[in-house]
Amino acid sequence: MVNSVPASLKPFNTFGVEATCDELISFNDEQSIQNWLKAEKPALDSLFILGGGSNLLLLGHSPLTFLQANIKGIEYCEQKSDNDVLVTAGAGVNWHQLVLDSLDQGYSGLENLSLIPGNVGAAPIQNIGAYGVELQDLFVSLRAIELATGKLKEFAGEDCQFGYRDSIFKKELRGRFVITQVTLRLSKKLQPNIEYGPLKQLFNDEPVVTAKQVSNAVIAIRQSKLPDPAQLGNAGSFFKNPVVTEEQYQTLLDAFPELVAYPVGSGHYKIAAGWLIEKAGLKGYREGEAGVHEKQALVLVNYGHASGQDILQVAKQVRDKVLELFGIKLEPEVWIIGEQQIFSS
Ligand code: FAD
Ligand code: EPU
Repeated sequence: MVNSVPASLKPFNTFGVEATCDELISFNDEQSIQNWLKAEKPALDSLFILGGGSNLLLLGHSPLTFLQANIKGIEYCEQKSDNDVLVTAGAGVNWHQLVLDSLDQGYSGLENLSLIPGNVGAAPIQNIGAYGVELQDLFVSLRAIELATGKLKEFAGEDCQFGYRDSIFKKELRGRFVITQVTLRLSKKLQPNIEYGPLKQLFNDEPVVTAKQVSNAVIAIRQSKLPDPAQLGNAGSFFKNPVVTEEQYQTLLDAFPELVAYPVGSGHYKIAAGWLIEKAGLKGYREGEAGVHEKQALVLVNYGHASGQDILQVAKQVRDKVLELFGIKLEPEVWIIGEQQIFSS
């Protein structure tokens, strides 16, 4: 257990903003989390669970204790069937390292989710997804400690209520559990999924032979448009792609025939928020040290010395302009710590 009081969070957020919290405690195993909870009996609203900090916007000082489940370890378990392999990884394992490790072992399944920043423990929170695959497609179970009681609990897929960038851990169980390990189902035989537009184009009808090929293609596409947080602070997509009804979609399409949207079933459409922001003239928009990325309008960036408030200011500008032009209220994907209310209602 490593304890810092008070703690700088600058190294723990990929926006790279200056921020602090009352205390940051990093745990290496489940038992030490349970012991600490038993000894301290902390109020739940005084705690925040930190992963790799790649989906957070921190606003100055948070008067909270940040807990990090820095639990390592990756274990594979071949199943009786010819094809299946289960992998269990600790919450503190870097997600992309897990992807690379599984590919090196010769197992497929995680290749489309290559290069997503952050740790394994956070992956179920928003059901991470990219290039046609979501965590829920591979998910078997997770283990988590209930902060109020210190009890270990196992969650199967149906318990997690996964949806697009959503799970029960963002709703009724928000802030209630610290995830300690995640188990996923991988395959020995590759079933490539290259239906996502840019991925399909890259393969250009060439046969896909290995999962590593798919992973390399995903990495190349991501690197061509998403900024590397080590070079330019960011948290990936700042907003979620809005999902609208068929009626709303038709109204928008009549007004903007070039609208980019995809059917997502049950009469709903997912609108490309990056397109809305670009159409609103905000791609590359900059206010001092914060701005909208030049290559991907859904990504907000820190040019070096932005504060959390500077980035929030740009986010509000984007939200207001999109609302004014299209009547759509963008919802942040990023967790805004310190001013949660500003985007609601
Ligand atoms: P953090 O940002 O530290 O935390 C995120 C949330 O998870 C917080 O609510 C936190 O309290 C909670 N949390 C973290 N760890 C735990 C735990 N052990 N137990 C309980 N709660 C926990 N996301 C995608 O889905 N797809 C993408 O393609 C994608 N691309 C990205 C590209 C870039 C360049 C960046 C910077 C981000 C991208 N993201 C993407 C967002 C981000 O990578 C994911 O949301 C990731 O899962 C966050 O992991 P983290 O460990 O950094 O979590
Ligand atoms: N587009 C524009 N202008 C832009 C950006 C996008 O017009 O500046 C349009 C283009 O038509 C493009 C379409 O939007 O074809 C979709 O863009 P892209 O393929 O880049 O994906 P996205 O919808 O912007 C989502 C996820 C990403 C994920 C990619 C790939 C969300 C909120 N974001 O982005 O996840 O990597 O798809 O699957 O769903 C993240 O969550 O942080 C993240 C990066």
